[in-house]
Amino acid sequence: MPTYNEGQILHHATLHQLQVFEVAARHRSFTRAAEELFLTQPTVSMQIKQLTKAVGLPLFEQVGKRLFLTDAGENLYATCNRIFEQLAEFEMKVADMKGMKQGRLKLGVVTTANYVIPRLLGPFCHRYPGIQVSLNVTNHDRLLDRISENRDDLYILSHVPQQLELQSYHFLENPLVVLANRNHPLVKEKRVSLKRLALEPFIMREAGSYTRRSVQRLFDEQGLSLDIKMEFDSNEAIKQAIAGGMGVSVLSLHTLALEGASGQLAILDVENFPIENQWYVCYIGGKQISVIAQTFLQFLQTEGRKIGQQTMETTRGLEMVRN
Ligand code: PGA
Repeated sequence: MPTYNEGQILHHATLHQLQVFEVAARHRSFTRAAEELFLTQPTVSMQIKQLTKAVGLPLFEQVGKRLFLTDAGENLYATCNRIFEQLAEFEMKVADMKGMKQGRLKLGVVTTANYVIPRLLGPFCHRYPGIQVSLNVTNHDRLLDRISENRDDLYILSHVPQQLELQSYHFLENPLVVLANRNHPLVKEKRVSLKRLALEPFIMREAGSYTRRSVQRLFDEQGLSLDIKMEFDSNEAIKQAIAGGMGVSVLSLHTLALEGASGQLAILDVENFPIENQWYVCYIGGKQISVIAQTFLQFLQTEGRKIGQQTMETTRGLEMVRN
Protein backbone atom coordinates (compact mmCIF):
# COMPACT_ATOMS: atom_id res chain seq x y z
CA MET A 1 0.00 0.00 0.00
CA PRO A 2 1.38 3.42 -0.87
CA THR A 3 1.92 5.76 2.00
CA TYR A 4 0.19 9.09 1.98
CA ASN A 5 3.26 10.83 0.56
CA GLU A 6 3.80 8.34 -2.28
CA GLY A 7 0.19 8.74 -3.31
CA GLN A 8 0.53 12.47 -3.17
CA ILE A 9 3.66 12.44 -5.35
CA LEU A 10 2.12 10.12 -7.92
CA HIS A 11 -1.00 12.26 -8.11
CA HIS A 12 0.63 15.64 -8.34
CA ALA A 13 4.12 15.30 -9.80
CA THR A 14 4.55 15.06 -13.55
CA LEU A 15 7.25 13.37 -15.57
CA HIS A 16 8.19 16.77 -16.96
CA GLN A 17 8.76 18.11 -13.44
CA LEU A 18 11.00 15.15 -12.69
CA GLN A 19 12.96 15.82 -15.88
CA VAL A 20 13.43 19.47 -14.94
CA PHE A 21 14.44 18.46 -11.43
CA GLU A 22 16.97 15.89 -12.70
CA VAL A 23 18.72 18.49 -14.87
CA ALA A 24 18.67 21.13 -12.12
CA ALA A 25 20.02 18.63 -9.60
CA ARG A 26 22.76 17.46 -11.99
CA HIS A 27 23.97 21.02 -12.58
CA ARG A 28 23.12 22.27 -9.08
CA SER A 29 21.81 25.32 -10.93
CA PHE A 30 18.41 26.46 -12.20
CA THR A 31 20.04 28.75 -14.75
CA ARG A 32 22.04 25.95 -16.35
CA ALA A 33 19.00 23.67 -16.25
CA ALA A 34 17.02 26.35 -18.09
CA GLU A 35 19.78 26.56 -20.72
CA GLU A 36 19.97 22.82 -21.25
CA LEU A 37 16.20 22.45 -21.50
CA PHE A 38 15.59 25.60 -23.55
CA LEU A 39 13.24 26.90 -20.87
CA THR A 40 13.19 30.19 -19.03
CA GLN A 41 14.58 30.30 -15.52
CA PRO A 42 11.16 31.21 -13.96
CA THR A 43 9.65 28.14 -15.68
CA VAL A 44 12.30 25.93 -14.10
CA SER A 45 11.70 27.51 -10.67
CA MET A 46 7.96 27.03 -11.04
CA GLN A 47 8.28 23.34 -11.99
CA ILE A 48 10.57 22.71 -9.03
CA LYS A 49 8.24 24.60 -6.71
CA GLN A 50 5.29 22.44 -7.76
CA LEU A 51 7.36 19.28 -7.38
CA THR A 52 8.52 20.39 -3.92
CA LYS A 53 4.86 20.88 -2.98
CA ALA A 54 3.97 17.40 -4.21
CA VAL A 55 6.85 15.86 -2.25
CA GLY A 56 6.08 17.90 0.83
CA LEU A 57 9.76 18.55 1.68
CA PRO A 58 12.35 21.01 0.35
CA LEU A 59 14.50 19.53 -2.43
CA PHE A 60 17.17 22.22 -2.67
CA GLU A 61 18.79 24.55 -0.22
CA GLN A 62 20.68 27.70 -1.03
CA VAL A 63 23.86 28.43 0.94
CA GLY A 64 25.34 31.74 -0.11
CA LYS A 65 25.40 31.60 -3.89
CA ARG A 66 25.55 27.82 -4.06
CA LEU A 67 22.68 25.42 -4.45
CA PHE A 68 22.70 22.08 -2.61
CA LEU A 69 20.37 19.10 -2.60
CA THR A 70 18.63 18.30 0.66
CA ASP A 71 18.41 14.65 1.78
CA ALA A 72 15.01 14.40 0.11
CA GLY A 73 16.53 16.03 -3.00
CA GLU A 74 19.41 13.51 -3.08
CA ASN A 75 16.94 10.65 -2.77
CA LEU A 76 14.71 12.00 -5.49
CA TYR A 77 17.73 12.57 -7.75
CA ALA A 78 18.78 8.92 -7.40
CA THR A 79 15.17 7.85 -8.02
CA CYS A 80 14.97 10.03 -11.15
CA ASN A 81 18.15 8.48 -12.52
CA ARG A 82 16.66 5.01 -12.09
CA ILE A 83 13.33 6.04 -13.64
CA PHE A 84 14.96 7.68 -16.68
CA GLU A 85 17.34 4.80 -17.19
CA GLN A 86 14.41 2.38 -17.20
CA LEU A 87 12.44 4.60 -19.57
CA ALA A 88 15.42 4.86 -21.92
CA GLU A 89 15.69 1.06 -21.89
CA PHE A 90 11.99 0.76 -22.63
CA GLU A 91 12.30 3.30 -25.45
CA MET A 92 15.15 1.26 -26.86
CA LYS A 93 13.13 -1.97 -26.75
CA VAL A 94 10.23 -0.28 -28.53
CA ALA A 95 12.63 1.09 -31.16
CA ASP A 96 14.11 -2.38 -31.61
CA MET A 97 10.61 -3.83 -32.04
CA LYS A 98 10.06 -1.27 -34.78
CA GLY A 99 13.39 -2.23 -36.39
CA MET A 100 15.37 0.56 -38.01
CA LYS A 101 12.26 2.53 -38.91
CA GLN A 102 12.17 4.78 -35.88
CA GLY A 103 14.11 5.66 -32.79
CA ARG A 104 16.85 7.80 -31.35
CA LEU A 105 20.62 7.74 -31.52
CA LYS A 106 22.55 9.72 -28.93
CA LEU A 107 26.19 10.36 -29.76
CA GLY A 108 28.87 11.97 -27.63
CA VAL A 109 31.95 12.97 -29.63
CA VAL A 110 35.19 14.86 -29.03
CA THR A 111 35.47 18.37 -30.46
CA THR A 112 37.75 17.27 -33.28
CA ALA A 113 35.49 14.43 -34.45
CA ASN A 114 32.98 17.14 -35.23
CA TYR A 115 34.71 17.42 -38.61
CA VAL A 116 33.88 13.84 -39.48
CA ILE A 117 30.76 12.62 -37.71
CA PRO A 118 28.21 15.12 -39.05
CA ARG A 119 29.40 14.31 -42.58
CA LEU A 120 28.80 10.62 -41.90
CA LEU A 121 25.42 11.30 -40.34
CA GLY A 122 24.19 12.76 -43.63
CA PRO A 123 24.21 9.47 -45.57
CA PHE A 124 23.19 7.48 -42.47
CA CYS A 125 20.07 9.59 -41.85
CA HIS A 126 19.30 9.50 -45.54
CA ARG A 127 19.32 5.72 -45.42
CA TYR A 128 17.24 5.60 -42.20
CA PRO A 129 15.02 8.69 -42.33
CA GLY A 130 12.93 7.81 -39.23
CA ILE A 131 15.91 8.07 -36.89
CA GLN A 132 16.40 11.12 -34.74
CA VAL A 133 20.02 11.87 -33.89
CA SER A 134 21.38 14.02 -31.10
CA LEU A 135 25.06 14.89 -31.28
CA ASN A 136 26.88 16.21 -28.21
CA VAL A 137 30.25 17.71 -28.98
CA THR A 138 32.72 18.41 -26.20
CA ASN A 139 36.40 17.95 -25.38
CA HIS A 140 38.01 14.69 -24.27
CA ASP A 141 37.83 15.24 -20.50
CA ARG A 142 34.22 16.41 -20.55
CA LEU A 143 33.32 13.47 -22.75
CA LEU A 144 34.68 11.16 -20.04
CA ASP A 145 32.22 12.80 -17.62
CA ARG A 146 29.37 12.09 -20.05
CA ILE A 147 30.52 8.46 -20.27
CA SER A 148 30.58 8.09 -16.46
CA GLU A 149 27.05 9.51 -16.37
CA ASN A 150 25.91 7.10 -19.12
CA ARG A 151 24.50 9.99 -21.15
CA ASP A 152 24.81 8.68 -24.72
CA ASP A 153 24.57 5.46 -26.74
CA LEU A 154 27.96 5.71 -28.45
CA TYR A 155 31.09 7.78 -27.88
CA ILE A 156 33.85 8.78 -30.25
CA LEU A 157 37.32 9.65 -29.00
CA SER A 158 41.04 8.98 -29.49
CA HIS A 159 42.20 7.75 -26.15
CA VAL A 160 40.06 5.02 -24.59
CA PRO A 161 40.63 5.09 -20.82
CA GLN A 162 41.05 1.64 -19.23
CA GLN A 163 39.24 2.47 -16.02
CA LEU A 164 35.89 3.07 -17.75
CA GLU A 165 35.67 -0.48 -19.13
CA LEU A 166 34.48 0.49 -22.57
CA GLN A 167 33.85 -1.75 -25.52
CA SER A 168 35.78 0.01 -28.27
CA TYR A 169 36.26 -0.39 -32.02
CA HIS A 170 38.84 1.41 -34.11
CA PHE A 171 37.32 3.10 -37.17
CA LEU A 172 39.59 5.88 -38.45
CA GLU A 173 43.09 7.35 -38.30
CA ASN A 174 43.34 10.77 -36.71
CA PRO A 175 46.76 12.18 -37.68
CA LEU A 176 47.79 15.38 -35.89
CA VAL A 177 49.75 17.78 -38.11
CA VAL A 178 51.60 21.06 -37.64
CA LEU A 179 49.79 23.99 -39.24
CA ALA A 180 51.12 27.39 -40.19
CA ASN A 181 50.08 30.31 -42.32
CA ARG A 182 50.97 29.48 -45.93
CA ASN A 183 53.30 32.51 -46.00
CA HIS A 184 55.24 31.29 -42.97
CA PRO A 185 59.01 30.90 -43.64
CA LEU A 186 59.01 27.29 -42.31
CA VAL A 187 56.60 26.25 -45.07
CA LYS A 188 59.51 25.87 -47.49
CA GLU A 189 61.71 23.89 -45.11
CA LYS A 190 62.02 20.13 -44.92
CA ARG A 191 62.18 18.10 -41.70
CA VAL A 192 61.95 21.09 -39.36
CA SER A 193 63.22 20.05 -35.92
CA LEU A 194 60.99 20.09 -32.85
CA LYS A 195 63.52 22.41 -31.24
CA ARG A 196 63.05 24.91 -34.08
CA LEU A 197 59.26 24.58 -33.88
CA ALA A 198 59.35 25.24 -30.15
CA LEU A 199 60.66 28.75 -30.89
CA GLU A 200 57.48 29.69 -32.77
CA PRO A 201 54.51 31.33 -31.02
CA PHE A 202 52.15 28.42 -30.43
CA ILE A 203 48.34 28.37 -30.34
CA MET A 204 47.13 25.56 -28.11
CA ARG A 205 43.83 23.78 -27.49
CA GLU A 206 42.38 24.15 -23.97
CA ALA A 207 43.20 21.94 -20.97
CA GLY A 208 41.04 18.80 -21.18
CA SER A 209 41.66 18.39 -24.92
CA TYR A 210 43.34 15.19 -26.02
CA THR A 211 44.91 16.98 -28.99
CA ARG A 212 46.65 19.21 -26.46
CA ARG A 213 47.73 16.26 -24.34
CA SER A 214 49.24 14.49 -27.37
CA VAL A 215 51.27 17.58 -28.36
CA GLN A 216 52.37 18.23 -24.80
CA ARG A 217 53.49 14.63 -24.38
CA LEU A 218 55.68 14.76 -27.51
CA PHE A 219 57.42 17.97 -26.43
CA ASP A 220 57.80 16.76 -22.83
CA GLU A 221 59.43 13.55 -24.08
CA GLN A 222 62.00 15.63 -25.95
CA GLY A 223 62.55 17.89 -22.94
CA LEU A 224 61.27 20.91 -24.89
CA SER A 225 58.73 23.48 -23.85
CA LEU A 226 56.38 25.28 -26.18
CA ASP A 227 55.95 29.02 -26.35
CA ILE A 228 52.17 29.02 -25.85
CA LYS A 229 50.78 32.42 -26.74
CA MET A 230 47.10 31.59 -26.86
CA GLU A 231 44.64 28.90 -25.88
CA PHE A 232 41.32 28.22 -27.62
CA ASP A 233 38.68 25.59 -27.04
CA SER A 234 37.79 25.62 -30.72
CA ASN A 235 39.73 24.11 -33.64
CA GLU A 236 38.07 26.60 -35.94
CA ALA A 237 39.24 29.58 -33.84
CA ILE A 238 42.77 28.17 -33.93
CA LYS A 239 42.64 27.93 -37.72
CA GLN A 240 41.46 31.54 -37.94
CA ALA A 241 44.28 32.67 -35.64
CA ILE A 242 46.85 30.86 -37.82
CA ALA A 243 45.33 32.47 -40.91
CA GLY A 244 45.66 35.80 -39.11
CA GLY A 245 49.39 35.16 -38.61
CA MET A 246 49.23 34.74 -34.81
CA GLY A 247 51.31 31.56 -34.68
CA VAL A 248 51.47 27.85 -35.46
CA SER A 249 49.53 24.96 -33.98
CA VAL A 250 48.96 21.22 -34.07
CA LEU A 251 45.52 20.00 -35.06
CA SER A 252 43.88 16.93 -36.52
CA LEU A 253 44.28 16.63 -40.29
CA HIS A 254 40.48 16.25 -40.39
CA THR A 255 40.02 19.89 -39.37
CA LEU A 256 41.34 20.73 -42.85
CA ALA A 257 38.97 18.49 -44.78
CA LEU A 258 37.03 21.36 -46.32
CA GLU A 259 39.92 23.82 -46.47
CA GLY A 260 41.15 23.50 -50.08
CA ALA A 261 44.65 24.21 -51.30
CA SER A 262 43.87 27.87 -52.03
CA GLY A 263 43.26 28.66 -48.34
CA GLN A 264 45.53 30.37 -45.84
CA LEU A 265 46.85 27.25 -44.12
CA ALA A 266 49.75 24.93 -44.86
CA ILE A 267 50.99 21.72 -43.24
CA LEU A 268 54.60 21.94 -42.08
CA ASP A 269 57.09 19.12 -42.52
CA VAL A 270 58.24 18.60 -38.92
CA GLU A 271 60.16 15.67 -37.45
CA ASN A 272 58.05 13.29 -35.31
CA PHE A 273 54.91 14.40 -37.17
CA PRO A 274 52.22 13.48 -37.86
CA ILE A 275 51.29 12.17 -34.43
CA GLU A 276 49.44 8.98 -35.33
CA ASN A 277 46.31 9.05 -33.17
CA GLN A 278 43.38 6.77 -33.88
CA TRP A 279 39.68 7.23 -33.38
CA TYR A 280 37.49 4.69 -31.64
CA VAL A 281 33.76 4.29 -31.35
CA CYS A 282 32.81 2.92 -27.93
CA TYR A 283 30.00 2.05 -25.61
CA ILE A 284 29.92 1.18 -21.95
CA GLY A 285 30.90 -2.49 -21.52
CA GLY A 286 27.92 -4.70 -20.63
CA LYS A 287 25.42 -2.10 -21.82
CA GLN A 288 22.79 -3.46 -24.19
CA ILE A 289 22.92 -1.08 -27.15
CA SER A 290 20.00 -0.56 -29.51
CA VAL A 291 19.77 -1.94 -33.04
CA ILE A 292 20.18 1.64 -34.24
CA ALA A 293 23.40 2.13 -32.29
CA GLN A 294 24.74 -1.21 -33.55
CA THR A 295 23.90 -0.27 -37.14
CA PHE A 296 25.62 3.10 -36.79
CA LEU A 297 28.66 1.44 -35.28
CA GLN A 298 28.99 -0.85 -38.30
CA PHE A 299 28.28 2.04 -40.65
CA LEU A 300 31.14 4.00 -39.06
CA GLN A 301 33.56 1.17 -39.58
CA THR A 302 32.86 0.96 -43.32
CA GLU A 303 32.00 4.56 -44.24
CA GLY A 304 34.47 6.10 -41.78
CA ARG A 305 37.36 4.72 -43.80
CA LYS A 306 35.99 6.33 -46.96
CA ILE A 307 35.81 9.73 -45.23
CA GLY A 308 39.40 9.18 -44.10
CA GLN A 309 40.52 8.59 -47.68
CA GLN A 310 38.63 11.68 -48.88
CA THR A 311 40.35 13.81 -46.23
CA MET A 312 43.77 12.51 -47.27
CA GLU A 313 43.00 13.45 -50.86
CA THR A 314 41.56 16.91 -50.19
CA THR A 315 44.39 17.87 -47.84
CA ARG A 316 47.19 16.70 -50.08
CA GLY A 317 47.34 20.15 -51.70
CA LEU A 318 48.09 21.76 -48.36
CA GLU A 319 51.48 20.09 -48.28
CA MET A 320 52.28 21.09 -51.88
CA VAL A 321 53.29 24.59 -50.93
CA ARG A 322 56.80 23.28 -50.34
CA ASN A 323 59.28 23.27 -53.22
P1 PGA B 1 39.89 16.87 -28.34
O1 PGA B 1 40.01 15.31 -28.51
O2 PGA B 1 38.97 17.38 -29.41
O3 PGA B 1 39.40 17.02 -26.94
O4 PGA B 1 41.27 17.44 -28.51
C1 PGA B 1 40.56 14.78 -29.64
C2 PGA B 1 40.44 13.29 -29.72
O5 PGA B 1 40.10 12.59 -28.74
O6 PGA B 1 40.70 12.85 -30.84
